[in-house]
Amino acid sequence: MDTYKIILEAHSGIAYVALITIAIAVINSLIGISAKNEFKPKDRRIALFALIATHIQFIFGLILYFVSPNGMDAFKSGMKAVMSNEGLRKLAVEHPVTNIIAIVLITVGWSTHKRAEESKKFKKIAIFYALGLILLLAMIPWGNWIG
Ligand code: HEM
Repeated sequence: MDTYKIILEAHSGIAYVALITIAIAVINSLIGISAKNEFKPKDRRIALFALIATHIQFIFGLILYFVSPNGMDAFKSGMKAVMSNEGLRKLAVEHPVTNIIAIVLITVGWSTHKRAEESKKFKKIAIFYALGLILLLAMIPWGNWIG
C-alpha cells in the first residue's frame, strides 16, 4: 500500500472517532445544562477526548492534502478545472477550508470553557462543539466515504 492509501485509510477511520466523540461531548453538555449538573472531571475528559480526536484528524487531513490526487495536486490542471468540477471542488477546497474553520471553533470552545466560570462551562462546549460538528457534517464527502 502506498503512502496515499495508508493516510486515506487513517483519515477515513479517525473520521468516525472524531465525529462520534464530538457528538458525545455535545450531548453530554446539553444534558449537563438541562440537569444543571456541576462540571466534573469526567465532563472535562469527554470534551478533551473529542478535542484530541479532532486534532489528530486535522493532522491526517493536512498530510492527506499533500499526498492525495484530490488535494493540492488537483490544482495542477488549473484553478478553473477544480472549481468547475463539483466533486473535486468539494475535496480540494470546500472540505479542507470548512473543516479547518470547524476545528478552530472546537478549539475555541475548549479554550473558552477553561476560562469560563463553573456555570458556563457546559454552555461553551455545547455551542462551539455543536457549530463545529454541523460544519463538519455539512462538508463530509459522504459518497466517497460510506457511499
Ligand atoms: C474533523 C475534521 C475532518 C473530518 C471528520 C474529515 C473527514 C473526511 C472523510 C470522511 C473523508 C472521505 C474519506 C474517504 O474517501 O474514505 C475525507 C476526505 C478528505 N479530507 Fe478530510 N476530514 C477532516 C478534516 C480535513 C482537513 C483539515 C483536511 C485538509 C487540510 C482534509 C482533507 C481531506 C482530503 C484532501 C480528502 C480527500 C482524499 C481523497 O479522496 O483522495 N480533511 N475527510
